[in-house]
Amino acid sequence: MMTTLFKEESHAAQGRNGAGAFPKIYVPNDAADVGFGVEHFLAQGPALKLALRQHGALLFRGCGVNSADDFEGVLDAVSFENMPYVGGAAPRRQITHRRIMTANESPPDEKIPLHHEMAQTSHPPDYIFFYCDTAPTLGGATTVFDSREAFDLLKSIDAALATQLEVEGVRYTRVMPAETDPGSPIGRSWRETFQVETKADAERVMQDQGMRWQWLAGDEVRTESPLLPAVRHDPVSGRKTFFNSVIAAFTGWNDTRNVGHRAVQLGSGAYLPSAVFEQFLASAAALVVNIPWQIGDMLWLDNRLVMHARQPFEGPRQIYTAIAIESE
Ligand code: FE2
Repeated sequence: MMTTLFKEESHAAQGRNGAGAFPKIYVPNDAADVGFGVEHFLAQGPALKLALRQHGALLFRGCGVNSADDFEGVLDAVSFENMPYVGGAAPRRQITHRRIMTANESPPDEKIPLHHEMAQTSHPPDYIFFYCDTAPTLGGATTVFDSREAFDLLKSIDAALATQLEVEGVRYTRVMPAETDPGSPIGRSWRETFQVETKADAERVMQDQGMRWQWLAGDEVRTESPLLPAVRHDPVSGRKTFFNSVIAAFTGWNDTRNVGHRAVQLGSGAYLPSAVFEQFLASAAALVVNIPWQIGDMLWLDNRLVMHARQPFEGPRQIYTAIAIESE
């Protein structure tokens, strides 16, 4: 895709997918244009959206996005329809009144595993965006992995498992505490998660979300998601996608209440075969892309096509985020 205002740049850490560069990296076509910014995105919005639907990930570097307000202005200019962050599990703060939040603020030494945003819920966003306000001193890259490539990889390792996931779907099980446990990466209480005070109100929300639940000692609750798709179809490329929260749950839902390897069940009730899935994760590690953040970088992801993760980091790191739904 050609645009007249942006030009493509390459990076040693860049990967490739079926559409070409992954992520596609854009810089201003005219490096001397000091007024580069929102109006350039407005002018090229449809072309940029098309590139995003094909490549799954676009990184904009040096494109005049210098604040949370600029970031919000660009998302408005390109007409991405805002989606409020309700029901997610991560600790966040609101930055602008409307669309911009901090990215997951969990401790720096923890890696956040690969996931599609809110894919353990019935209504995940179609897009997620990141903006680098403060780059970390060391580490802290946002990792991206194309889920079309992920599905093909799993199929090459165990075609039967890939088919089972596609045909049966998955359920996610998680035990939530009554009070938030800051010592756990998935320790958000049911009160905070569902934004309620009483068990009766929590039950109403869980009912609405199609979940099943069981109250445990100490007012902890064991929740089971409805049966959700694990493999979906990308109409743009005609390929299948590994669009789910299976990797995050399997590798990351570990604390005193939960065991990741038991957090995901196929529709039949079977757990994932650990050895096969570990092999898949090891192979996937060679295919992911990490491009270190620079101040003013903006990353757009099609959440239906691309997983993201966060590497551990040192020093200050401030990444802002927003989510959107397809506005057709
Ligand atoms: Fe995320």
